[in-house]
Amino acid sequence: MKYQLGEYNTEVIETILDQVVKQVPTNSFWVIDNKVASLYPIFNNLPDTKLLVNAEETNKNLKMAEEIFNWLKYNKVNRQSTIVAVGGGITTDLTGWVASNYMRGCNLMHIPTTLIGMIDAAIGGKTAINFNQTKNLVGSFYPAGKVFIIPGVLQTLQEKEIQAGLAELLKMALLPESRILKLLIELKSEWKTEFHTLINMSIEQKMLICQRDLRDTGERRSLNLGHTFAHVIESASNYQIEHGRAVAIGIIKAARLSYELKLIARERYDFIIKLIRSHYPANYLQLEMWIINAISNKGKEFYENDKKSKLILFSGENDIAVFDTIEWNKFKNIIIEVS
Ligand SMILES: NC(=O)c1ccc[n+]([C@@H]2O[C@H](COP(=O)([O-])OP(=O)(O)OC[C@H]3O[C@@H](n4cnc5c(N)ncnc54)[C@H](O)[C@@H]3O)[C@@H](O)[C@H]2O)c1
Repeated sequence: MKYQLGEYNTEVIETILDQVVKQVPTNSFWVIDNKVASLYPIFNNLPDTKLLVNAEETNKNLKMAEEIFNWLKYNKVNRQSTIVAVGGGITTDLTGWVASNYMRGCNLMHIPTTLIGMIDAAIGGKTAINFNQTKNLVGSFYPAGKVFIIPGVLQTLQEKEIQAGLAELLKMALLPESRILKLLIELKSEWKTEFHTLINMSIEQKMLICQRDLRDTGERRSLNLGHTFAHVIESASNYQIEHGRAVAIGIIKAARLSYELKLIARERYDFIIKLIRSHYPANYLQLEMWIINAISNKGKEFYENDKKSKLILFSGENDIAVFDTIEWNKFKNIIIEVS
């Protein structure tokens, strides 16, 4: 079915949400993004116990996790209880981490409400909070027992959130053997017309990779393509640059470094840059001066904390390379270079 964002009417979405809510065990404990609860009254009117959270990257931290732990204890939640996260990647990452630790693990369900959440964050079981100014430093592998995908709720997302989700979709498309690339090339700027298909393909691709390598010791690392750059950009900007935009820029930087290290030929470099640029306005992919300065001044520490998880680069005609290390100055020059 062809699908344009915004085609769903409120009644249809409410009916779908109602059916989903009925599939969640009664007496579950809901952690819900404030904005989503205000947009979709069904979440405000739940008979179950709920906690509303502000989905801001600066809230994806130990303090907020502690608040949720206290709320769970106050409500006498036990290991048999189900915790349901409703929101984007911030809400599912944070709630997932809490659920994986509270009483050594409660039942967990996700209802992702952003494009990043549906195609990436809610799939595959990585949970995390930011710690000591370092992105996702504390986390666990804890796949949700159920994830409900309801594309209709994306109609209320702001365009910048759709753009952010597109970055993870482009990342998936650039991984070896992805079927998404061909479709994205065919669709060009009309990619939203095949929204459902792209979401399905992306989920399938991510699940396949995570089933083979849940704990991120091999193949799954490819999903971090561009993310070392992205995490330095996000951390140095004190999370003023949102994750998806940082990923889009990070993919370009990864391509540049891959080319400079002679891992890829000029043709592949040009192809990747053209693909990313054709989906975004030019200024979306340019770092502002204040963030370039912040990276120069304090990026090294963030880079050194993050690079444990390896540097994922492009290689050959359609492959990915895992790099152990490259010195900070080289990394910095690529990240702050105006391209
Ligand atoms: N665990 C993983 O594998 C994984 C993968 C990718 C990203 N992430 C994490 O996900 C986070 C980014 O996720 P995100 O972009 O979904 O962020 P998010 O949760 O902040 O959502 C973005 C914004 O959209 C709003 N929103 C959510 N649903 C909405 C809806 N249906 N309508 C209108 N507004 C809505 C939120 O309130 C927020 O303002 C980052 O912290 C990133 O590190 C995790």
